[in-house]
Amino acid sequence: MRLVILENAEAVADFACDYFVDQLKAQPNSILGLATGSSPVALYQRLIGANQRGEVSFKDVTSFNLDEYIGLAGDHAQSYRHFMNEKLFDHIDIDKARTHVPDGAAADPNAECVRYEKEIQAAGGIDLQLLGIGVNGHIGFNEPLSSLASRTRVKTLTKSTIKANSRYFDADEFQPTDAITTGIGTILDAKEVLLLATGATKAEAVRGCVEGPVSAACPASALQMHQHAVVVVDEEAASLLSMKEYAQWAEQRHIELEQA
Ligand code: GLP
Repeated sequence: MRLVILENAEAVADFACDYFVDQLKAQPNSILGLATGSSPVALYQRLIGANQRGEVSFKDVTSFNLDEYIGLAGDHAQSYRHFMNEKLFDHIDIDKARTHVPDGAAADPNAECVRYEKEIQAAGGIDLQLLGIGVNGHIGFNEPLSSLASRTRVKTLTKSTIKANSRYFDADEFQPTDAITTGIGTILDAKEVLLLATGATKAEAVRGCVEGPVSAACPASALQMHQHAVVVVDEEAASLLSMKEYAQWAEQRHIELEQA
């Protein structure tokens, strides 16, 4: 695992933007795994800027989002499809027909999960998977107790996740309690994984992800089993790591060796 500790959230977004731009320059028809939540928003803003300045193109990109709420159609303001259109897709040169988000309004959610998983595989698998992390260590909507081998399926959300995400919903608005999410096994199949975490509220989850035992109790810890996982955090999110100094030194050496 490559652990990159940067000063603040701005630096994390800059790093992630460079990482995506490098990926797209090396492979313009990349299959990207994309994420929602507040963590990727600053990255998406930077990618929009880079695209509008002509520094990078998404015209040959295919994307698959991690998850969607069950019960919300794509045109619902709190759906993850709507989020992606608003925060990224509407502002870049991507072909919307090649952007995929599970259908939260599908009549048969289980069948939709099977279809979505097959669609990812038929496209050739994900080249670069972006992740945030929940305060309880979830990735996508793979809550604690998720099988580390899980594929796309229906998952019931924990009370803590429902509470954390309630900030997006009005007090009297329907808030889903279940979601379709790609599995931990699906995520681990991506060629590369880039996880972003910022702020002190994520420090415990980051510790579990990076230094904890590989365990369903912290789904993000499964990334320890991935060959090309890069975890990018700010100082606050890194504050509980005991290996912080080593990680900073190793990252410095990584840069020096790349430049040599
Ligand atoms: C949601 C999403 C996750 C995301 C998490 C953290 O539960 N399903 O993909 O990582 O929230 O969100 P935030 O980045 O807003 O803290």
